[in-house]
Amino acid sequence: MNLLPRPVSYVDGGKLCAYQGWETVLVDGPPGGYRLLSSDDGVLIEAHDAAGEMNALQTLRQLLGPQAFRVAGDRPAVIPACEIVDHPRFEWRGVMLDVARHFLPKREVLRWVELLSAHKLNVLHLHLTDDQGWRFESKRYPKLTEIGSWREDSRFGDRRSAGMKGRPHGGFYTQDDLREIVEYARQRHIAVVPEIDIPGHSQAAIAAYPELGVHGGGVWTDWGINERVLNTAESTADFYRNVFDELMDVFPGEVIGLGGDEAPGHEGELVRAIAEHVLRAGRRPYGWDEVMESGPLPAGTIVASWRGVAGGVTALREGHDVVMCPEEFVYLDYRQSESPDEPIPVGTVTTLEKIYGWEPVPAGLTGEEPGRLLGAQANIWTEHLDSARRVDYAAFPRLAAFAEVVWSPAEKDPNFVQRLEEHHLPRLDALGVEYRPLTGPHPWQRLPGIPGLPR
Ligand code: ACM
Repeated sequence: MNLLPRPVSYVDGGKLCAYQGWETVLVDGPPGGYRLLSSDDGVLIEAHDAAGEMNALQTLRQLLGPQAFRVAGDRPAVIPACEIVDHPRFEWRGVMLDVARHFLPKREVLRWVELLSAHKLNVLHLHLTDDQGWRFESKRYPKLTEIGSWREDSRFGDRRSAGMKGRPHGGFYTQDDLREIVEYARQRHIAVVPEIDIPGHSQAAIAAYPELGVHGGGVWTDWGINERVLNTAESTADFYRNVFDELMDVFPGEVIGLGGDEAPGHEGELVRAIAEHVLRAGRRPYGWDEVMESGPLPAGTIVASWRGVAGGVTALREGHDVVMCPEEFVYLDYRQSESPDEPIPVGTVTTLEKIYGWEPVPAGLTGEEPGRLLGAQANIWTEHLDSARRVDYAAFPRLAAFAEVVWSPAEKDPNFVQRLEEHHLPRLDALGVEYRPLTGPHPWQRLPGIPGLPR
């Protein structure tokens, strides 16, 4: 189990044992798996691989109590005597952070890597570009960040009714910053999947290099589905081949995101051209489920099913690997309750319980589909989350429920919320995470008078 592993057995009736460090040995077993045995003799970890050892150490930290989530103070010295046999259900246990609508400084991304690790999540998908900002330093095309990383203005809340803030914002990651994030994550067995979104959601790039677009326009102060997509000129494809070469140089991982969502009127040639370019470089393209509509997808493309699960099911049947992220269940910017106290309430109500109750494997699959269901990811879009504090509020504790869904067997634990409250929220407190209390927002987490658009 993820949040509080349920031991398969107790040693000496489960009495507390002094903690004397651990010893790890590698043994065969499923990837990421481990066995943790704690007794009066100390702690023995049998890990199936290096990721399994990391997962075991996170479990050990959980067993040591909330104090183990602090870097100073009284160190816990005892843990329950127990045996835990554990491995992840899915190989892709991801979170997408939209750092385009509102930039998150590097230190916050590093902190997010820590938070993923504490929850045994292993993929950080960084949505690096959108209409509202370009966050990836390109040495070849410097205007992408000189112009494209600054947004003149944005709204307090929903685009249909809220006023403008009258405040520019932005920022970008240098290639050195990103290499550091990748290395920090690698040390924690977390893959960083970068995404440069094409051919829609590209107005920041078009603001920097107008020749890329079908229309001009500045970095967008509003948001939504945008007609100002990339054009189909061969020079635009060349431009993006060069940008993706830089991206693949900075991000050495296998999977490279190319977006592909919400591009009205675009025929899909650019998606195919860049997917083929990524494949030629020995990597795997990763796109939102609209890429299924661009004609036959090159083999090896991974599909993120966000408009429900139907796109993912079709992709599996067509032989593509799939990551499930249906907006109805795992969009963490969506409102957490019906209450009018929810800050800038948008989307459908997505409670903690709803996420915990979600089953990532859609009904109707036979298991014989030629594609593989790699796992799932939660997506955090930040148009209405303008700071790391707002992102914390939206993400937690729902992300803990998601982490348990993608780690644990499909059977649900009726005591999940109680376990969360008793054991996990104190850990989040120790980590300094500004989560939403189970009873609703703290007064300072509300944003009264700022309109959202609840669905
Ligand atoms: C998306 O939510 N446009 C992928």
